[in-house]
Amino acid sequence: MRAITLQPRSAGSLRLEDIPEPAGAGSLRVRGLAVGVCGTDRELIEGEHGEAPAGRSRLVIGHESLGRVLEAPAGSGFSPGDMVVGVVRHPDPVPCASCALGEWDMCRNGLYTERGIKQADGFCAEVWTTAPGFAVRVSGSLGLAAVLLEPASVLAKAWAHVDSIAARTAWRPRRALVTGAGPVGLLAALLGTQRGLEVHVYDRHDAGPKPRLVRALGARYHTEFPSLEFDVALECTGAAKVVRDAVLSAAPGGIVCLTGLGGVKHRATFDAATLNDALVMENRVVFGSVNANLRHYRAAAEALAAADRAWLDGLITRKVPLARWREAYEKRPDDVKAVLVFDES
Ligand code: BGC
Repeated sequence: MRAITLQPRSAGSLRLEDIPEPAGAGSLRVRGLAVGVCGTDRELIEGEHGEAPAGRSRLVIGHESLGRVLEAPAGSGFSPGDMVVGVVRHPDPVPCASCALGEWDMCRNGLYTERGIKQADGFCAEVWTTAPGFAVRVSGSLGLAAVLLEPASVLAKAWAHVDSIAARTAWRPRRALVTGAGPVGLLAALLGTQRGLEVHVYDRHDAGPKPRLVRALGARYHTEFPSLEFDVALECTGAAKVVRDAVLSAAPGGIVCLTGLGGVKHRATFDAATLNDALVMENRVVFGSVNANLRHYRAAAEALAAADRAWLDGLITRKVPLARWREAYEKRPDDVKAVLVFDES
């Protein structure tokens, strides 16, 4: 079968190749339909991180999946024909206190694996397998937009944690900021508007589909950092300057959730004393959030089902057939989400 693989930590090693179909007794066997491309994939391709499965030099990439079940073990709860998305992170083998309870997104020893990223093959393949407990059924009515489930699960987790922190006070957040209007920021804005919040999105681009997609949610689009105070901020760029501005924009008692990774590309200084006093004196919270567990995938599936289908389709700005697979990994100015389509059926 055809799969897209690379040698982790080796820039330029990406290729489409023929590899044996995965064997997996007791697994769901799934026809890969589509895979979304995100910043993490580009970092893998640039050799910045990633790890191949034990004893191998190459990794099948792709962590934003959509597939159709070909075979399902009896009693698995799945049937051939079901549309499914594969769960990215799998628990560490120890397991730590979080992984033992199915909260692998909160893994405490770092020994988790991630499909298409860390020590486990991903979903950029014509056929993939997964244990039934690591597949999430999605409604066929979502069509290709169901490939947005994995990134949406990451935001469903971020918002769930914002909600639990917000439960510490009698007042409820009213105004939210989202920084960055890429797929992550747009999905953050969707979930914010679904919570009935007044959502503001900051992104430096004023061209392309982003302003329209934000306004279609009833949210406000800013190309200059808004000089307002926010009860909640979801930082989705990882760019140090924007992180700093997001933290400084928090109202007293405000909650700032960081979801982006900047790496060494975005160094900036941050005054720890100012941060300390702002957090202590006015009860601000700044926290980070990564990945998602099954609860968040299910919450994300509900959020996508409740969203306007045309709006979700508008997030997928490029569908690239397997024959032109390299194009899926190019970054184009008007891209929101590029999706590599393995099988149109
Ligand atoms: C994925 C997450 C993953 C994270 C870190 C993100 O792109 O969506 O599932 O945990 O990268 O590897």
